[in-house]
Amino acid sequence: MKLFVDTALIEEITEVNRWGILDGVTTNPTHVSKTGKSAQKVYEEILRTVKGPVSLETIAEDAEGIVREARELAAKADNVVVKVPITCDGLTAVKQLNSEGIKTNVTVVFSPLQALLAAKCGATYVSPFIGRLDAIGHTGMEIVQQIKAIYDNYDYSTEIIVASIRHPLHVLEAALIGADICTMGFATMKQLYDHPLTDLGIERFLNDWKKVPKE
Ligand code: E4P
Repeated sequence: MKLFVDTALIEEITEVNRWGILDGVTTNPTHVSKTGKSAQKVYEEILRTVKGPVSLETIAEDAEGIVREARELAAKADNVVVKVPITCDGLTAVKQLNSEGIKTNVTVVFSPLQALLAAKCGATYVSPFIGRLDAIGHTGMEIVQQIKAIYDNYDYSTEIIVASIRHPLHVLEAALIGADICTMGFATMKQLYDHPLTDLGIERFLNDWKKVPKE
């Protein structure tokens, strides 16, 4: 399974990249607003640092505007993926962008049928938001299971990015379902490593090593 970091903070992206496990990055307007920098500057920094797919989100709401914005974003680098919210205009734009060879990530997805439409329009990726569903009393991961079944039934090549991940258990469940990608914040990514028994085990080995005679 591929792991993406969901942030626009270059320090976080650089750190995860250093660990050797980073496959790509997803950003959104909220993440960009937290950097305090212009989107232009943030995107340049990220694209200089990351080789894998980098999702940059469109703001326009009409199909023509989305396509125009998407072309500008895609021209920045070969690894740009244009993030498009799932609306009728969004889907019209995704279909057009697919015909131009521009990669898309259909986002803000909360149902398997929205994901079906995204695949029909040729989306490269689809991003179901799991944590936000959990937060309103649904079992978010159920839609990942359903999207996976639908895509397998019809051989859609659209890849599933499990998004709005809140904790490592979401990543485990997504991996067991066979989702292609998980995108998560820096804190959750770091938690994938953490285990109290690993810390204790290393501490014990280091202490015992001190007891080994030097000669
Ligand atoms: C995914 O691409 C989105 O940027 C992200 O996962 C949204 O998650 P949130 O619910 O943490 O805002």
